[in-house]
Amino acid sequence: MSEIRLANPVLTKEMKDAALRAMETEKFVLGESVYRFEEDLAQYLGVDHVISVSSGTHALQFALMAAGVTRGAPVLTVPNSFIATANAALHAGGTPVFCDIDPTTYTMDPTLIEARRGPPAVAIVPVHLFGYPCDMPRIAEEAQRISAPIIEDAAQAHGATVDGTKVGAFGLAGCFSFYPSKNLTVGGDGGAVSTNDPKVADTVRKLRDCGRTSQYEHDIIGYTARLNTVSAAIGLVQLRSLDEWNERRRSFALEYDTRLRDLPDFALPPSPTSRMNPVYHLYVVRAVLRDKLKHHLAAAGVETAIHYPIPLHRQPAFAAYVLPADAQALPETDAAAASILSLPIYPELRDHDVAYIGDAIAQSFERAADVVA
Ligand SMILES: Cc1ncc(COP(=O)(O)O)c(C=O)c1O
Repeated sequence: MSEIRLANPVLTKEMKDAALRAMETEKFVLGESVYRFEEDLAQYLGVDHVISVSSGTHALQFALMAAGVTRGAPVLTVPNSFIATANAALHAGGTPVFCDIDPTTYTMDPTLIEARRGPPAVAIVPVHLFGYPCDMPRIAEEAQRISAPIIEDAAQAHGATVDGTKVGAFGLAGCFSFYPSKNLTVGGDGGAVSTNDPKVADTVRKLRDCGRTSQYEHDIIGYTARLNTVSAAIGLVQLRSLDEWNERRRSFALEYDTRLRDLPDFALPPSPTSRMNPVYHLYVVRAVLRDKLKHHLAAAGVETAIHYPIPLHRQPAFAAYVLPADAQALPETDAAAASILSLPIYPELRDHDVAYIGDAIAQSFERAADVVA
């Protein structure tokens, strides 16, 4: 049984009070808190519209549908993501096709978009993985070249910025998840689409609410996929602390960096730069002896995980959809899957937890060195 957990959603008395108040005084569905949460999140992200939905998967699906993805259309994304990224392309009617990653940032390598063979993509879905933002200006150049809209998967990167602009504000739309492990949570499942495009906003709003134009008139085939009022009330309170929590994650990351910098056959996550400000949804290291390290940490009471052990182009569920070229030619993603390890990082981690985990990792390396000697 691990003593230091990998992630830990924050739930304070203020959040519980807000949830109870919303339950007692508002409509359960599309109550006032939903609209207030959307307004506050739009302001935080610097976009015109935010439409909350019931999950990050629905956010991606609806954004892709609003972007015009139709039957069989190729949707270009990365194979090292949670399966929902590619599921959403299929739910929208498209087909996921894959572009390999930059091995140092684990995000879409823009130089490979042009080199990619096969049918042209109708939409590009870069994933700001582990809280590290993609190179959006370069991806935008490529997207413009092939005339494909960008739908950002920002499920792991609430508040991360590129050149001072928040992720989710670059593409035609940005998609967020509030699943309990994320940087911003809502006491259950939840998600949101951000956009500056009023037509996209309007379509997503209808898709989440049964295709409604009014109570009993529906002009598109929609879904029941709204964010619950109680969840929105919790999200409203959480949003006020998001920057402070992200700052705490950054300070833990700095502490990990300092402690782990000199280990052999070991790589740290990409650092912030003058342009990229990550939010460390996860602190992901890379180790040649990854599995030994994972076992050693488990024995020391530290929960870790691999995000993700099976790349999407190797998932059994996608066997019928993955193009033959993609099935073989994604070497950076395959190499990462074999060596990455996610360490605990979240606002309520204590300073001495990071010191303890750092010491446990160093000890694992000393043991490995003893075995070799
Ligand atoms: C990168 C990424 N995309 C999409 C999703 C889907 O979000 P949800 O679980 O809210 O459907 C998640 C998280 O779960 C994710 O991490």
